Amino acid sequence: MNKRIVSTELKLEDNELSIRPLSLNEYIGQEDAKESLNIFIKAAKKRNECLDHVLLYGPPGLGKTTLAGIIATEMEAGIKITSGPAIEKPGDIAAILNNLKSGDVLFIDEIHRIPRFIEEVLYSAMEDFCLDILVGKGSSAKSIRLNLPKFTMIGATTKAGLLSSPLRDRFGIIQRLQFYKINELSDIVMRTAKLLAIEIESNAAKEIAKCSRGTPRLANRFLKRVRDIVEIKYEKNTINTNDTLKALKLLGLDSNGLDELDRKILNTINNSFAGGPVGLSALAATLSEEVETLEDVYEPFLLQEGFLKRTKNGRMLTEKAKQLIDT
Ligand code: ADE
Repeated sequence: MNKRIVSTELKLEDNELSIRPLSLNEYIGQEDAKESLNIFIKAAKKRNECLDHVLLYGPPGLGKTTLAGIIATEMEAGIKITSGPAIEKPGDIAAILNNLKSGDVLFIDEIHRIPRFIEEVLYSAMEDFCLDILVGKGSSAKSIRLNLPKFTMIGATTKAGLLSSPLRDRFGIIQRLQFYKINELSDIVMRTAKLLAIEIESNAAKEIAKCSRGTPRLANRFLKRVRDIVEIKYEKNTINTNDTLKALKLLGLDSNGLDELDRKILNTINNSFAGGPVGLSALAATLSEEVETLEDVYEPFLLQEGFLKRTKNGRMLTEKAKQLIDT
């Protein structure tokens, strides 16, 4: 089968293999999601059934892929991985489904990017575990029905609102992932440091956590970069709080966890649009950034931290953002 559209390996950044949690017990944070999934997994296993289809949604970097891997491990199931953009024609998804083994987990990342006409193939596959395919052309074409093994589909999306309701309704378990709290991110940094044999003071881990915009992906990335700076520039083997603060500043991060683009967004709304309201596409054009980057990656955190608010006429700065700009 085409290697591009389906894989049995999780996409991994360097070193991620050793730091990715493999069980729900090891997974830090997302307590609500963990508790629910733990119950549903236990119930399915007790009845010797497949887990119902799961939809995971929320901003990028919160561990949707990791959680899909954990669900497969906890279910003692195989996992096949693909993504919305990799599926270009109905045959792509038919081939993936036809190669599933009984009990497998099929993880589809960015599921909202599957075109509507292909999505329809998924409806009968998810609901009745069968595939209707058209064989032949013209007047001799006929539809044949292929039975599929029972499987669990896990869909991940940053945009649940873009999913059609027939697709959304076929997920029995819908779980929203939240931004992580500082203490959870601190624990993740300490756990990763231990796995990578990095010595770090707990207050230094907390400073990294504070800059990580609620996401473990950034926390782990900043830990590695701070380690590089401390080891090479400050010539130390243990990461202390003072050096961490200096290293984070060197990385362009401030104590609110805002990076350069965050500050540029706030400053542009202030200077070029008199504090707003401004539409996302006008803002993206002024910043020379993609609308998707602003909408998916930057805006959710700025909204949650109270720097930005959404109005029906566009995005506006809050008092908190104005105070930050003035200082
Ligand atoms: N590494 C990345 N995300 C994690 C999480 N939620 N728990 C533990 N380690 C992680």
